[in-house]
Amino acid sequence: MNSMNTNYSIRDEIRDFWSERADTFDQSVGHEIFSEEERKGWQRLIRKHLGEGQGRPLLDLACGTAVISHLMHDVGFKVTGLDWSDAMLAQARAKAKKRGTDIRFVSGDAENTMEPKDSYDAITNRHLVWTLVDPASAFKEWFSVLKPGGKVLIVDGNMGRETWVKSLQKFWTKVTGKPAASHMSPEMMARHQSIRSRVHFSHEMPAEAIVDLLRQAGFVDIVVDRKLGDIHWAQARKMPFLRGLERMVQERFAICARKPG
Ligand SMILES: C[S@@+](CC[C@H](N)C(=O)[O-])C[C@H]1O[C@@H](n2cnc3c(N)ncnc32)[C@H](O)[C@@H]1O
Repeated sequence: MNSMNTNYSIRDEIRDFWSERADTFDQSVGHEIFSEEERKGWQRLIRKHLGEGQGRPLLDLACGTAVISHLMHDVGFKVTGLDWSDAMLAQARAKAKKRGTDIRFVSGDAENTMEPKDSYDAITNRHLVWTLVDPASAFKEWFSVLKPGGKVLIVDGNMGRETWVKSLQKFWTKVTGKPAASHMSPEMMARHQSIRSRVHFSHEMPAEAIVDLLRQAGFVDIVVDRKLGDIHWAQARKMPFLRGLERMVQERFAICARKPG
């Protein structure tokens, strides 16, 4: 399928972009986990907002290669991972088989999950919201799929915001002609930027904009948690210097919200 086909939508483009990245996705720091320090940071964050899993059903949306799904499984949730990329799901299933985890994986669209109403105690997602075409309707869908009293935990960031490190990198590239260290080829970077320019959050994505949409969908007790320093420090230590520095200064956050009841 290519973009000359008139039926080829932005959603197809997003799915195909990630499918092409599936084979190497887990090689990057910030995707798969490369230290116990980072794993502990994630588990701390999950327990802080969702508590122990205790066998409760949880839906990990846009699960990719199931990094977050496994963290949720490890704190005791009964996990379903959903993604629309078959290539990502193949990696996720292979990982679950290797680790002997009983995570259920389904193919689907996070904006229209087809999961039963009132069926999950928690919904999670990492690095999904920035790429949603219609976050307002997605949040309404998540609200309906959660049980009354259930919680959503979003992990994302305002990566469209220019940081002083990014400006420094651009200056460095201009002076030396050397591109900044990246886990993507220039061609994939261009596709990434083109996709970003056409989704709902085409420029900045401040946490407050997500909070507003969550509130409109009916969520209450919305908490923005910016204390992710332990996770970012553990990641930054394993990255090239400037990428690590960028990770520490970016506006990254978790947002937790509850369905009333
Ligand atoms: C940056 S990766 C994140 C994967 C995983 N959440 C993680 O943090 O390791 C983005 C993933 O979102 C998936 N994705 C993006 N939009 C989606 C949608 N509307 N429905 C289902 N999956 C989606 C892609 O296929 C890809 O696997």
